Order: sequence, then C-alpha cells, then structure tokens
Amino acid sequence: MQEIIYRLMSEGDIKQVAVIEKEIFSLPWSEKSFLDSLKNENTVYIVAEIKDEIVAYCGAYISFEEADISNVAVKKNFRRKNVAENMLNKLFYECGKKGVSDITLEVRETNVPAISLYEKLGFEEAGIRKNFYEKPVENALIMWKHD
Ligand SMILES: CC(C)(COP(=O)(O)OP(=O)(O)OC[C@H]1O[C@@H](n2cnc3c(N)ncnc32)[C@H](O)[C@@H]1OP(=O)(O)O)[C@@H](O)C(=O)NCCC(=O)NCCS
Repeated sequence: MQEIIYRLMSEGDIKQVAVIEKEIFSLPWSEKSFLDSLKNENTVYIVAEIKDEIVAYCGAYISFEEADISNVAVKKNFRRKNVAENMLNKLFYECGKKGVSDITLEVRETNVPAISLYEKLGFEEAGIRKNFYEKPVENALIMWKHD
C-alpha cells in the first residue's frame, strides 16, 4: 500500500470528509458542521491521506485537560490496516500538546470493531447512556482513557 500521511485536517479536506461521512453514518455531519468544528479553536481534527485521497478522519473537542472524541471513520476499503489506530495515536499526540490528559468518547454498544479498537488503545468502559443514538435507537457505552 502507498504511504499514508496522518496530518491535521484543513478546510480543503472537508468535501471528501463529508462524502465519507455520508457513506458510513445514518445521521451524517454536514460539510458546515465539519467546517464549524474545524474553525473552533478548542478542537483537533486529523485526516489520513494517501496521495490526494482522504481515507479516514477523526476529531475531538478539548476542554482544559479533557478531550471528547466526536468523529472516527475509515473508508471501507482501507479498514483493518491499522489506519484508525495510527490516526488516533496522532490525535492523542496533538491533544497532548494542548495539555490533554484524559480522553472520553461514546460508542454504540453493538459496534464491536470500534469498541475493540478503543480497548486496544487503552480505553475502558465507564457507563452507559440509555438510548443515546437515533436511526436506530441504541445505548451508548461511555469510555475513558486516562494518561
Ligand atoms: C471502527 C473503525 C474506525 C476501525 O478502523 P480500522 O482502520 O479498520 O481499525 P484498525 O485497522 O486500526 O484496527 C485497530 C484495532 O481495532 C480492532 N478492530 C478494528 N476493526 C475490527 C473488527 N472489524 N473486528 C474486531 N476488531 C476490530 C482490532 O483490535 C484492531 O487491532 P488488530 O489489527 O491488532 O486486530 C472502522 O471500522 C470504521 O470506520 N467503522 C465505521 C465508523 C465507526 O464505527 N466509527 C466509530 C464511531 S464511535
């Protein structure tokens, strides 16, 4: 496989990111949602890129020493190649530079690939948010990773 670059997201990536988002999620974020988030100085967004193709993205909101992961997605054809793992490690590194020590996220309780990924990266289950998701309605697991 070609070399994958993990770097901060820029406005020029958002069109491709929104297309991937639409392919994967039942309630996708719009281009505007990504743009607004990217412009917020308390966020960090990362993309994985091969040549000029964005193949994955993730992001987090930062509040003091805590970060809340808002997005994680890898294009179908690029899964199981450690792209998410490498990309999230880059996200943690960038968050660490901003003083973050604790990271949280929500994940659908049946999303085995994502839960396995987060456990591999050191997250632990810390509770459940009942009926947190729509389309379909489902509970969220709350997970935390502490430095
Ligand atoms: C979850 C997702 C991001 C994983 O991306 P990925 O690039 O395929 O994951 P990686 O290759 O980096 O996998 C790293 C680890 O995650 C776990 N994992 C990933 N996919 C898995 C699967 N299908 N089944 C079980 N474990 C899985 C494994 O522990 C894996 O480590 P290993 O390769 O040593 O076994 C990807 O499947 C995806 O985009 N899913 C749809 C969107 C989504 O669910 N986002 C998360 C919302 S909370």
